[in-house]
Amino acid sequence: MSISKKAIVITGLASMAIIGVAAVKPPKGQYTNLQVLPADISAKQLNKIMVDEFEDGLGVTCVFCHAENKDTHKPDYASDEKPEKEIARAMMRMTSGINEQYFELKHPMVGDSIIAVTCNTCHNGQPRPGNEETK
Ligand code: HEC
Ligand code: HEC
Repeated sequence: MSISKKAIVITGLASMAIIGVAAVKPPKGQYTNLQVLPADISAKQLNKIMVDEFEDGLGVTCVFCHAENKDTHKPDYASDEKPEKEIARAMMRMTSGINEQYFELKHPMVGDSIIAVTCNTCHNGQPRPGNEETK
């Protein structure tokens, strides 16, 4: 094989290797505003939390917490405009805290199958559980 052909083959292999690495390791920060969940969470994991824990646990839809973009009228998931989203973050921290302190779980994360207390434990499909008087 001539030198130049060899060079082409090597460059070809090298770029395949780079594409391969990029494919298995998605760039960190596909989500831009995570403050409680890990930055490198997969879309599958995140969606499971949003649907199973949040929507089903509270009996709400995405836009209960996520503000609509005024131009596109689609939810802007990274926006913190709705206070419910910040309350949900506080609730995530509280829920992890209960599991860690009282159930002695190490690094419990909302959505983990091992956690003892979930959003649904208190919410039971309602957005505002608790005292009848505070509802
Ligand atoms: C009970 C409130 C609540 C509901 C309901 C909810 N979310 Fe979220 N969502 C959050 C919170 C809180 C965060 C930020 C988590 C953090 O800071 O780690 C978030 C983050 C996200 C993000 C990441 C945005 C970014 O770029 O940072 C996406 C995407 C998302 N939610 C999609 C959805 C979808 C789709 C639904 C409906 C199926 C949904 N959410 C329902 C509270 C909610
Ligand atoms: C230990 C019980 C408990 C757990 C666990 C819990 N919550 Fe709550 N949550 C409450 C109570 C009680 C209220 C109502 C507070 C009030 O009436 O002011 C509430 C209120 C909220 C609200 C405000 C609703 C509104 O209409 O203002 C959001 C959002 C919320 N919780 C999200 C969550 C999410 C998400 C989780 C799981 C990560 C969670 N909560 C876990 C007890 C809990």
